[in-house]
Amino acid sequence: MSLATESQLIAPHGGELVDRSGERPEAIDELECVRLTPRELADLDMIASGALSPLTGFLGQADYDRVVAEMRLGTGLPWALPVCLAVTGPPSGDRIVLSDEADTPLAVLDVEEVYAYDKKREAERCFRTTDDAHPGVARLYAQDDFYAAGTVTVFARQEPAFAELHKDPRETRSLFAERGWKRVVGFQTRNPIHRAHEYLTKCALETVDGLLIHPLVGQTKSDDVPAAVRVQAYRALLESYYPEDRVVVSAFPAAMRYAGPREAIWHAICRKNYGCSHFIVGRDHAGVGDYYGSYDAQEIFDEFEPHELDIEPMFFEHAFWCRVCGQMATPKTCPHGGDDHVFLSGTKVRELLSRGELPPAEFTRSEVAEILTEAYRRD
Ligand code: ADX
Repeated sequence: MSLATESQLIAPHGGELVDRSGERPEAIDELECVRLTPRELADLDMIASGALSPLTGFLGQADYDRVVAEMRLGTGLPWALPVCLAVTGPPSGDRIVLSDEADTPLAVLDVEEVYAYDKKREAERCFRTTDDAHPGVARLYAQDDFYAAGTVTVFARQEPAFAELHKDPRETRSLFAERGWKRVVGFQTRNPIHRAHEYLTKCALETVDGLLIHPLVGQTKSDDVPAAVRVQAYRALLESYYPEDRVVVSAFPAAMRYAGPREAIWHAICRKNYGCSHFIVGRDHAGVGDYYGSYDAQEIFDEFEPHELDIEPMFFEHAFWCRVCGQMATPKTCPHGGDDHVFLSGTKVRELLSRGELPPAEFTRSEVAEILTEAYRRD
């Protein structure tokens, strides 16, 4: 394999990797302080690291309106989801301090604008539903009523949830270059890696140089498997079933929005910033309940010209174990019927685990199944 340089990797979204980390300004103790929610904290950290390039702060109204209406920033650059800071009203000064939940100051926001926004409209456009049973919509409805916009300077990065797995876009990019990779496929997940996920990632890896397994470790809904358990399972699986020199595992610090199709675009753009040239989008990506069709998150990519996103989506149909084929397959590659297929829904898996039963080996490798069963036993 020839040595690659960072310039041979895909360019960040908008051309340059943003860096909004900086020195702590003097005299901030007197400033108004806004305590951020977990989702906003995750976004802040990703702005600092360049994971949300080209964003340098929370969205102003022109960008916000265009993102909500047509999935583009004011410049026309594709951007699928609002990255906004909700506040109760206009702050007293033009600079505010942003703090974590323990009121530790992390950043300053130079306020350019404060504007009211229409929650129903944002829900309808971004989540395709106004139903407050949808976890992303419920979170949106519970937010304060104004958005504060402007550039941020982050002087204290948060302690990452899994320090040993934390890598900023700059770091993944130099790691890929060191390994001589030019074409790298990114894999988003908020679940333990079951056989279907393993199948997707390995099929994708067959056609590129390297694989970035990039589990989301920010806030998820309460019935998703906790990140700490998932991380244990990723380690076990990686150790035994993936070649070390072809795979990087790192944590993706974002919070889940459960916005299905739009989140798939947003996830792809973020992974482009981390240096991925390809991105896996399978069945019901970032979905929840029955809000999205199985392949809506793939179809939405047609709303952009391929060169606009640059990162190439790799689509996969519903993967399962086929007893007759004796291997993993999808409807694209298997002629047999549903009775021959082993697939369990998330609810079914949770039922098994709560009864102390292991999911079948065709669904989950035993190393992962045991970690999950043990975690459920402790609960
Ligand atoms: S997600 O919210 O992060 O999308 P999950 O961790 O379940 O949830 O999925 C990670 C990726 O694998 C997504 O691209 C999803 O579409 C895909 N995926 C998950 N299970 C399957 C499956 N059985 N068949 C095809 N794709 C799948």
